[in-house]
Amino acid sequence: MSGLRPPPAVEAEDLTVVRGAAEVLHGVSFQIPAGQVTGLLGPSGCGKTTLMRALVGVQRNVSGTLRVLGSEAGRAGLRSEVAYLPQALSIYSDLTVRENLRYFASILCLGEEAVLEALRRVRLTGLAGRIVRELSGGEQARVSLASALLGDPRLLVLDEPTVGLDPVLRSQLWRLFGELAGAGATLLVSSHVMDEARRCDEVLLLRDGSLIARDTPAGLARTTGTEDLDEAFLRLIGGEGSP
Ligand SMILES: Nc1ncnc2c1ncn2[C@@H]1O[C@H](COP(=O)(O)OP(=O)(O)OP(=O)(O)O)[C@@H](O)[C@H]1O
Ligand SMILES: [Mg+2]
Repeated sequence: MSGLRPPPAVEAEDLTVVRGAAEVLHGVSFQIPAGQVTGLLGPSGCGKTTLMRALVGVQRNVSGTLRVLGSEAGRAGLRSEVAYLPQALSIYSDLTVRENLRYFASILCLGEEAVLEALRRVRLTGLAGRIVRELSGGEQARVSLASALLGDPRLLVLDEPTVGLDPVLRSQLWRLFGELAGAGATLLVSSHVMDEARRCDEVLLLRDGSLIARDTPAGLARTTGTEDLDEAFLRLIGGEGSP
């Protein structure tokens, strides 16, 4: 082992985004280490989706520096390397699970092997022939996730992938994220459930478009003096949780 750390998967410097008439990200700077699961946490409306959209190159009015896997965010060459799971389900409800995946695989010029592998990873092989509309919410979320896994992307940007799932499924998905990172992928996973921070290697905490902390879950607990991550967040934003 060389002991050298790989370069960060993402480097953002003074990232600012204007949406409509308002500035919604105010010059945030951060790095996302490669081969880890980084959580993007913060309350509704703080700018998580906006930051992710900037990363994958679909957000307008972005300024500052944003480098993704060594290239400028949004470069065409990154398309097969970066997978984006938007917050809204982005699958076809009147197609079967397998048809959905074949469709997305064809866009990436991938064959049946990739479809089978993605189904296997989210444990949907047994439901491959079912129409998506007739699946449960959690099963549909996994179809969506499977589409993001196609082709072994190096960076996965997952916007609230566990929302609405039961604790067992959530736990399975977090384990899968850990496995993907163990195999070398970099994951950025958003959530507004502070407790999910526990499952991340590192956490970025956003509040009102500004980054208020970047730390490991243990580090956050240490700095704020509490294991309760909801409480930790409140303490970081200025004692609103104090009696
Ligand atoms: N299309 C848009 N036009 C103008 N403003 C927008 C648009 N989309 C989002 N915003 C605003 O940008 C800010 C950040 O929104 P964003 O969707 O990034 O938040 P979020 O942290 O992902 O929230 P949530 O947890 O609810 O998904 C919010 O104030 C929101 O109202
Ligand atoms: Mg969002």
